[in-house]
Amino acid sequence: MKFFIDTGDVAEVKEAAAQGIIDGITTNPSLVAKSGKKYRDVVVAMCELVDGPISAEVLSTDYDGMLREGHEWAKVHPNVVVKIPLIADGLKVVKILKSEGIRTNVTLCFSPTQALLAAKAGAAFISPFIGRLDDISETGMDLIEKIVTIYNNYTFDTEVLVASVRNPTHVVDAALLGADVCTIPFGVLQQLIRHPLTDLGLKKFIEDGKKIPV
Ligand code: E4P
Repeated sequence: MKFFIDTGDVAEVKEAAAQGIIDGITTNPSLVAKSGKKYRDVVVAMCELVDGPISAEVLSTDYDGMLREGHEWAKVHPNVVVKIPLIADGLKVVKILKSEGIRTNVTLCFSPTQALLAAKAGAAFISPFIGRLDDISETGMDLIEKIVTIYNNYTFDTEVLVASVRNPTHVVDAALLGADVCTIPFGVLQQLIRHPLTDLGLKKFIEDGKKIPV
């Protein structure tokens, strides 16, 4: 399973990239707004740090606006994947961009049928938001299971990108289900690294290392 970092913070990308654990990046307007920086500047800086798919989202919701922004994002860097909301005009834009060789990540997916439509339209990635489903007392991971099964039943090459990840269990469950990608906030990535037995074992090795004659 590929690991993307889900952030609008370039410093987080730099640190995670140095740890060697990042295959790509996802952003969204809410994440970038927190940085206080210009959207384009953030994406350009990210493209210099990670050689992999970097999702940048359109802000328009009408066909012409989304298509124009999609073309603008595609010019920024060949690694930029245009993030398009899962709405009717969004699917039209996905189809056109696909025909032009521009990859899309269809976002705000909350149902298996939406995922099926995004795949039919030609999305490179589908982003089901599992944490937001958990937030309303549904089981987000059930949606991932259904989408993985449906995509595997046919010849879709759309990758399942598990989004709205909130904890390490989401990452493990996504991997067990065979999702292609999990996009993970920086804090959760760091939680994946740590284990109390690692810390305890290391402490003992350091103590014992001091007893070795030099
Ligand atoms: C990433 O592509 C999504 O925009 C992001 O994972 C949403 O996460 P949230 O539900 O925690 O805001």
